[in-house]
Amino acid sequence: MSNEVQEIFLKDYKKPSFTIESVNLTFELFEEETNVTNIMKFEKLDESADLVLDAQELELKEVVLDGEVLGSDRYTHDEETLTISNVPQEFTLEIRNRIYPQKNTELEGLYKSGDIFCTQCEPEGFRRITPYLDRPDVMSIFTTTVIADQKKYPILLANGNKVHCHESFNTRHGVTWHDPHPKPSYLFALVAGDLDFITDSFVTASGNDVELNIYVDKGNSDKADHAMKSLINAMKWDEEKYGREYDLDIYNIVAVDSFNMGAMENKGLNIFNSAYVLADADTATDANFMGIESVIAHEYFHNWTGNRITCRNWFQLTLKEGLTVFRDQCFSADMNSSEVQRIQDVKALRERQFVEDASPTAHPIQPKSYISMNNFYTATVYEKGAEVIRMLHTLLGEENYRKATDLYFETFDGQAVRTDDFLWAMKEYGEFDLEHFKLWYDQSGTPSLEVEENYADGKYTLTLTQNVPNKVDGSLQKAMYFPLKIALMDKTGAVAEEKMLIISKESESFMFEGFEEKPVLSINRDFSAPVIIKHQDVDFAFLMQHDTNSFTKYEAAQEFAISILFKLMEDIESDISEYLEAFGALLELDTDLSYKALLLELPSISTLMQKQDVVDFEPLYKAKDKLSYEVAKKYEAKLLKLYFQNHEPLNSALDSKSIAKRALKNRVLSLLSALESKEIAAVAKEQYEHSLTMTDRITALDVLESIDAELSEIAFNDFYNRYKNNTLVMNKYFALLAASPREGVLDRVMALQNDEVYDEKVPNLVRSLIGVFARNYKYFHAKDGYGYKFLSDKIIEIDKINPQMASALSGAFKIYPKMIESNKKLMKATLECIVSTQGISKNTFEIVSKILK
Ligand code: ARG
Ligand code: ZN
Repeated sequence: MSNEVQEIFLKDYKKPSFTIESVNLTFELFEEETNVTNIMKFEKLDESADLVLDAQELELKEVVLDGEVLGSDRYTHDEETLTISNVPQEFTLEIRNRIYPQKNTELEGLYKSGDIFCTQCEPEGFRRITPYLDRPDVMSIFTTTVIADQKKYPILLANGNKVHCHESFNTRHGVTWHDPHPKPSYLFALVAGDLDFITDSFVTASGNDVELNIYVDKGNSDKADHAMKSLINAMKWDEEKYGREYDLDIYNIVAVDSFNMGAMENKGLNIFNSAYVLADADTATDANFMGIESVIAHEYFHNWTGNRITCRNWFQLTLKEGLTVFRDQCFSADMNSSEVQRIQDVKALRERQFVEDASPTAHPIQPKSYISMNNFYTATVYEKGAEVIRMLHTLLGEENYRKATDLYFETFDGQAVRTDDFLWAMKEYGEFDLEHFKLWYDQSGTPSLEVEENYADGKYTLTLTQNVPNKVDGSLQKAMYFPLKIALMDKTGAVAEEKMLIISKESESFMFEGFEEKPVLSINRDFSAPVIIKHQDVDFAFLMQHDTNSFTKYEAAQEFAISILFKLMEDIESDISEYLEAFGALLELDTDLSYKALLLELPSISTLMQKQDVVDFEPLYKAKDKLSYEVAKKYEAKLLKLYFQNHEPLNSALDSKSIAKRALKNRVLSLLSALESKEIAAVAKEQYEHSLTMTDRITALDVLESIDAELSEIAFNDFYNRYKNNTLVMNKYFALLAASPREGVLDRVMALQNDEVYDEKVPNLVRSLIGVFARNYKYFHAKDGYGYKFLSDKIIEIDKINPQMASALSGAFKIYPKMIESNKKLMKATLECIVSTQGISKNTFEIVSKILK
């Protein structure tokens, strides 16, 4: 493999030599094969160019140029391309080819998810459907006809508006769809199936009536209401916040069970992983409901940030993804609690993106090269990309940011553009050093900021030293440009000074005057920049009590706990009374309950791991177990009281108050589980048996699994029997067991692979069982190496079915260079085994070889 892989570089980008004015596609779907007829109108832009179409795994039947059937001497067809030389200035090309969607396990191009025909074309799936200039800067007008058996596939969908229903012929029928908006091939979609649906409508600000449909598997239409409500809210929000209206008569969403990612924004026909559509209180957690709201909005927002204005090449991916994630985060903040949303977004960023940015697969939000583009749908491109847009929003302020986005939409509508074009619009309305800011697009790694404070004679001096880690290849990187929100407080917590500093140098000092005593610093308020703050001797207890910024207050609670955990790692008998006292004060705090639930959470193992130079999980677990136990022991009575104050087992409502109560109550129950007592097990058992929500049941199962093997088994059996026919719920079942803290997890995970519900071809199930196990650090990194061996065997096996899935699983090895020597040795052997496997995909090869470098 290694000598065949081709690396694609941004610097090599060339404009396309042809444009495609229109595409007319006809699909004849059968049980064995699908026949595709593709009629394209071309115009040549570069006199000397041959027509080189992307074509993968296609059975070519016929090539007709301006009515003339071409002999096989007129074109060459290899594994990747179809090349025709000597084509005229303008011409019509008609291609007939055959594909086999039923055999497509990669889930790219046209494939079957259960009984549903569906597509996933981003980034390069369209070339597995028909030969094409499969690149985002070739935009064309698509007309699509789908023909299939009427009984088996009564619903036939494609992009745009429905323009024609063909008279049925024998047992077959057909529908033609037309999308008037020019689009790149990656936004193409087609669906055929026997589906239920719910329908609603939305009137746009300019008075256009839009039909909204959500299609689901038979029998699931009662689980789509929340998705529909979220869609309508998102449509309204984009009109109000960005002045963006929807632009077709119809908006269709289809939920499918087999999907590699979350969802896809195909024009007028979004295709979703069913996990981000289907929900009711009995089967979905509160977190699931929130996830649906955000992904539905995300895909809807892409209609403007992605579809109307798209990417010139795939290096620009963050142009649409970073921006769209920022937009969906703001939407969720407006729909729910903005302070809780911000903390959760930062938590997610740190758990996934910070880890990636400190690993051998670190890359800038705008990568410079790739082997498989599929490997770059990363937390960096998405979540760090969103943080970069957020910094621009902070630098410009709400009003100017809106003017700048208006300008962006006005200027680039209908085009395929670059991140530079977006930044140009921002700069038109912002006072900031654009060239310097652009480093966020070019450099990788999380910058850190060292804080030094000096106070003398009423003057307070803050010295900040920035450190950007070296690039993966060892080369140096420069100091970045970012906004840093700070506040200075007096001893009562009153804010004396609140400021947004601009950080642009490696080291700089800021002076503040007129204090009677040394002020207390609150730094990186709202997490205004995605950096790591390094600050010694902080009075965390004070900030936990008095900080007026909800983010930095939360941060203080986390940092205090982290410092105590590291102290415990040095000496497990260390004095932790100060922390316990501060924690006790949090319990008394009168604040929003879902925010309080976050404040009471102890730092995750991943958070701690990121602070270790050489990673060894054992001492981390020991310290965390100890602190958890001490907290629970000291506050058992208070925690129980808080639990019962907020426990409403029969309330399954989804208003923010009910959700908050569940969040707090379940946080408290999890904290109490550290006691591993009969009493707490009994509380959890009761909650499992009598609560009406999935949120409560999941926490109860989790707690039982960590306390009492016997009770856990009973509850899990009950759960299995109750939900075995619901795959979405079974994902939770597998995930809970794979994340278990109890000895013997690997054996149980291995056995679960044989469960009749488990299916290696369904990505959600693989993620829930294998993916979750790989994040169960204690057992995945077991000193005997069996965790590594298990995962690498799975990667090799799944790579043959679904390379994208295999390469995603390989990500668990990213931590390799930081592991302690004994683990590193074991990891190395298994990783070498993966890269040397014959026929390993370029997806998996790219990730594993980077890790090994
Ligand atoms: N554009 C989609 C989204 O963020 C993600 C699709 C990525 N799919 C893939 N196979 N890489 O909403
Ligand atoms: Zn997206």
